[in-house]
Amino acid sequence: MSLQSKTRAPGSSQSKLGAVGFKQVQEIVRDQAAIIIPEDKAYLVENRLRDLALRESLDHIDKVLLEMKKGNRGIISKVVEAMTINETSFFRDFHVFEALRDVILPDLFQRRASEKKLNFWCAASSSGQESYSVLMLLHEHFKDKLGSYKVDFRASDISDEMLERVRSGCYSQVEINRGLPAKNLVRYFEKNGLEWQVKPEIRRMLTVEKRNLAQNLTGMPPQDVVFMRNVLIYFDVKTKEAILGRVRKIMKPDGYLLLGGAETTIGMDTAFIPQRLARTVLYRPEEMEGKF
Ligand SMILES: C[S@@+](CC[C@H](N)C(=O)[O-])C[C@H]1O[C@@H](n2cnc3c(N)ncnc32)[C@H](O)[C@@H]1O
Repeated sequence: MSLQSKTRAPGSSQSKLGAVGFKQVQEIVRDQAAIIIPEDKAYLVENRLRDLALRESLDHIDKVLLEMKKGNRGIISKVVEAMTINETSFFRDFHVFEALRDVILPDLFQRRASEKKLNFWCAASSSGQESYSVLMLLHEHFKDKLGSYKVDFRASDISDEMLERVRSGCYSQVEINRGLPAKNLVRYFEKNGLEWQVKPEIRRMLTVEKRNLAQNLTGMPPQDVVFMRNVLIYFDVKTKEAILGRVRKIMKPDGYLLLGGAETTIGMDTAFIPQRLARTVLYRPEEMEGKF
């Protein structure tokens, strides 16, 4: 999501946020999504509230704040959504995908050779580039196995707008230019108007669901690989520990957790075991015989 405001009608939505309004938004976003909005981001909150006021025909941001105060759940959820940062790209941090291709997936296909079932979860998937990158990689390098394995691949996020984008699998040329190799574009996408759409054979492999990481992971089956990249950075330490504790419970003991480059479980009260592999750190729920 762009950090800038969309063009707005002259004279509309121009009221100021003020310190009280900013605090109100900080508190509601923290309560609902555990996201911490830093003190120096008031301008950003104000811009996003203005855009929201316009979209919801609420004239100005005071009305948004009033609806929040009244407990209007629809508006509260849209305010939370408007405060999320959805930055992502195809094959973001490529060395993670190299680790998947060369180590994690070969290891898991071997470990699950009799069970023939693999579960993947992209938590905080944003607009879906991460999930589709993994699915393309699976299809490109492990296609022979996919026929005989049952693969459950879930993408989740707190933002309905992002989930809608994941479902559509449509990307602009600018988004495609950010990390998607030309061979993948040719093989896995088709033109849809001005955009590129992921082909149905790949989209079909993905289940999309709304999940708030600040809440329990009800109904989540045991996972082999969890991608939880570039989202823990928005939470405080206590929240990170609580989330990682819940994630560990739904992971298979020999599964893999992948975090963003600026994230780690080290120094936190979680039982994950970090395992370094070249430029990537893999987190395991339990100590494993290490071959890396
Ligand atoms: C920066 S994006 C990361 C996207 C992708 N994982 C990546 O690394 O490229 C962060 C995503 O986390 C989502 N998010 C923030 N707070 C969340 C929460 N409490 N529960 C679930 N998703 C959340 C946002 O909506 C956003 O799409």
